[in-house]
Amino acid sequence: MTLPTIWRFTSLFTLLVFVTGEPSNRTFPNHFKFGVATSAYQIEGAWNEDGKGESNWDHFLHQHPEVVVDKTNGDVACDSYHKYKEDVKLLKDLGVDFYRFSIAWTRIVPLGRKDSGINPDGIAYYSNLIDELLANGIEPYVTIFHWDTPQTLEAVGGWLNSTIIDHYVSYARLLFELYGERVKHWLTFNEFSQFCEEGYSTGKKAPFKTLVGVGGYQCTHNALIAHAKTFDMYVKEFKYTQKGLIGLSVDTAWAEPKTDSILDKLAAEEEFMFDYAYYLHPIMAGDYPAALKRKINFKSFFQGYHPSRLPKFSRQEKKLLKGSFDFIGLNHYTTSLCSWSTTKFPSPSKLDDCGVKQSQDPSWKISASPWLAQVPYGMRKVLVWIKENLNNPPLLITENGWSTSDSNLDDEDRMEYYKKYLAEVLNAIHDHGCNVIGYTAWSLMDNMEWASGYTEKFGLVRVDFASPNRTRTPKDSFYMYQTIIKNKKLID
Ligand SMILES: *[C@@H]1O[C@H](CO)[C@@H](O)[C@H](O)[C@H]1NC(C)=O
Ligand SMILES: *[C@@H]1O[C@H](CO)[C@@H](O)[C@H](O)[C@H]1NC(C)=O
Repeated sequence: MTLPTIWRFTSLFTLLVFVTGEPSNRTFPNHFKFGVATSAYQIEGAWNEDGKGESNWDHFLHQHPEVVVDKTNGDVACDSYHKYKEDVKLLKDLGVDFYRFSIAWTRIVPLGRKDSGINPDGIAYYSNLIDELLANGIEPYVTIFHWDTPQTLEAVGGWLNSTIIDHYVSYARLLFELYGERVKHWLTFNEFSQFCEEGYSTGKKAPFKTLVGVGGYQCTHNALIAHAKTFDMYVKEFKYTQKGLIGLSVDTAWAEPKTDSILDKLAAEEEFMFDYAYYLHPIMAGDYPAALKRKINFKSFFQGYHPSRLPKFSRQEKKLLKGSFDFIGLNHYTTSLCSWSTTKFPSPSKLDDCGVKQSQDPSWKISASPWLAQVPYGMRKVLVWIKENLNNPPLLITENGWSTSDSNLDDEDRMEYYKKYLAEVLNAIHDHGCNVIGYTAWSLMDNMEWASGYTEKFGLVRVDFASPNRTRTPKDSFYMYQTIIKNKKLID
């Protein structure tokens, strides 16, 4: 036997032991990256300082404080606009490879349209943040849009008005020009379902519109086109010189059949199509899933909507959409049980279009957010579904985390959640060959949780919102995540 053959057998044997080993002994691949995420409105504060324009969140929470459970807003939040150096110190201490943050459109282009002027102070803020990160060996992963639409554009329809597409693309081009030499990972959008469905259909997020069964589809349509045009523009104008990667973050719960019955399995598949494939299929294949189109078009016809409530992509748009990603970002938190609904949903509505009733198992542990139950297997199942149905794209987990109502430093529940979910990420990689390239914990610190105000805390770091200093204190979960990152494995 020649030496190389022995070597080959030996490594095969090692590999076998490795694959069948206890989950806690499994390691994350060498190239696997760890990070932590935030978003501009939730942490920055300084809502009108140094030339920043008004966003839809600024506007609506000032006009209608009652839409937030504790009647708070993001005027100051964690004050990261002034304390970003302290944030970067925490990130450095945590040991992350990257920091995923978002840029406030209104800090860069205060009135939304580039031809109405840009803001040098806002541009300097992110430039300084990026420099501070790079000086500390942390890669900036930038979300271009995390829900804070310029109010000037919201006032003329926001994401329901297709003229926003070109304004968005101009804003994105400006970011590539300004920061593209230093930023190599871009996310065009964060969670279509949240700012579109909840923003324009169910009225739970800014701009709090309730065009049920209509608004969400229009918003998603325009945002998907804006994504595709931005990807195309980056490829044509910047990719060759800047060599960065573009993705997007799509959120989904895992849809688990309520029972083993065929009907419940079909219901879960239907839910997953409406909740996930609806957003990703266009990016992958150039159009909405055929079954989804058929169903919404059919219902729309009999409800008297001509044309359908679901807009159509032009041939040119389909071409731009197809394959418009370098990697996919997944925000995943929880799972729901699915069965066909026996009661009628309001019509028209996305719920009615889908027709599936979602519930939680009474045995599941629930966080401070009523929708967030701890169901670790859901993480593995989503990753395996993506591998099997979407041709195993490079996948970055862009958010995952647990909320508590208090900000105690001994946050056992959060630690348990992270350990169990990360164990399932390892299972997906080692048992199923899922192409997961990194993981992002949500969130670096307690922050402004949209319409839940400061009542749901997702932070690895406590923020004292009663102090004008917004003092930051790492929780136990911070040190646990630090150890996981250092060892690239889970330690009991
Ligand atoms: C859409 O936005 C443009 C400005 O970008 C505005 O002129 C137009 O009136 C808006 N359309 C609607 C229906 O609000
Ligand atoms: C805020 O920070 C300053 C400077 O470090 C310190 O002097 C002051 O006591 C702090 N205030 C509070 C309320 O923590």
